[in-house]
Amino acid sequence: MRFRRLINASVLAVVAVGSLSTVAASAHDARPSKPQDQSLRALAAKHGLYFGTAVDPAAYAADSTYKTMVDSQFSTVTAENAMKWESLEPTRGTYNWGPADALIDNAVRNRQLVRGHVLVWHSQLPGWLNDGINDGTIDGPQLRALLKKHITDVVTHFKGRIWQWDVVNEAVSDPWETPSAIHLGGNAGSFKQKFADLLGPGYLADAFRTARAADPKALLFYNDYNVEAFGDGGAGDKTQFVYNMIKQLRADGVPIDGFGSQGHLATQYGNYDVFQVADALQRFTDLGLAAALTEVDARSLMKNADDPTLAANGADVNARDQAAAYNYHVLLQACLLNRHCLSFTVWGFTDKYSWIPNWFKNPPEGAGCLWDAAYNPKKSLRTVQGDLAAAGPPLVGNRIPQAPRQLPRR
Ligand code: XIL
Repeated sequence: MRFRRLINASVLAVVAVGSLSTVAASAHDARPSKPQDQSLRALAAKHGLYFGTAVDPAAYAADSTYKTMVDSQFSTVTAENAMKWESLEPTRGTYNWGPADALIDNAVRNRQLVRGHVLVWHSQLPGWLNDGINDGTIDGPQLRALLKKHITDVVTHFKGRIWQWDVVNEAVSDPWETPSAIHLGGNAGSFKQKFADLLGPGYLADAFRTARAADPKALLFYNDYNVEAFGDGGAGDKTQFVYNMIKQLRADGVPIDGFGSQGHLATQYGNYDVFQVADALQRFTDLGLAAALTEVDARSLMKNADDPTLAANGADVNARDQAAAYNYHVLLQACLLNRHCLSFTVWGFTDKYSWIPNWFKNPPEGAGCLWDAAYNPKKSLRTVQGDLAAAGPPLVGNRIPQAPRQLPRR
């Protein structure tokens, strides 16, 4: 023991003497670059946090700046659309794995982890499935069987290559819908409600169990929007409803590992503060879950659909820019403060390809990303970089890995 230590010490001494000059030289050269010149992935890695983006394969193929930024800035990626049911099985029984596989291959090449999005969602279903649900040729038992097959096929295909799966997405209603008490489904009479009713209340538990049976290692998430903070805890509090739902799933032994808060914020609605969001994440992770911010952006009202100057005058632009940056700041700090918050993913990083102007048209909204449409850094980017650079112990520590919960042994 003592002998070994002596040898090690002398070897070290030789190495140290031999490399003194080079150490001195490289210490100078290796002075860390300014935070604003570092990648988001490098800044986040200091906290063990993964920083991600949604990826659009068309932009990735056509725009070399976009590709370079996806490859270098981020440590996790999500397929913006390529893993949705309509993309994977446009024709019943015929899978189209190509774009999703390519996305994963790129991720592996860039040492990025992949969030799988999404297995169960009422939206972006293939036409044949939508039609069958709408015209009644697909009934409840048939839909449940189709869903089980879909989850099994997809999770099996990507097995071992997905870090976190969004197993169920957006299953519950919003307080502005009818009835206003939060419930499984959506607005009365909507497709979202029909989908939930056909499947019946046990479908979430079944979905998580089916996913787990197909991949023992992926972290299985419930993912939703408008759940960044708790409200009054009453019947219209969506976060409370989701919390109760997940708590029950955990109590029933269902293999759910994570809570995904999408984080689609908008400056016209005002802001949460850091501690409201931190408190919400804490309550979910106290259930034994990991957490993730999964689809962050912060949009603003636009003067018209194509006008990047937002509203009438420059002062307004500045105010909105800062409000958007504050929204990013609140979500990121809340995540940093919780060691079970494993990843922070933005839903696109440049206004050039953001889904926002295509989705929120009346009134037109936009300008929600970290970089503008010409890839210029925005206040939001500088804020995020600053937050990552300035955080550290004792309040911000390394992430705590989540062990995937297994099915009970039979
Ligand atoms: C969006 C995509 O970004 C768009 O390209 C697509 O047209 C519609 O869906 N919540 C989700 C994501 O879970 O899948 C959505 O993505 C945005 C809202």
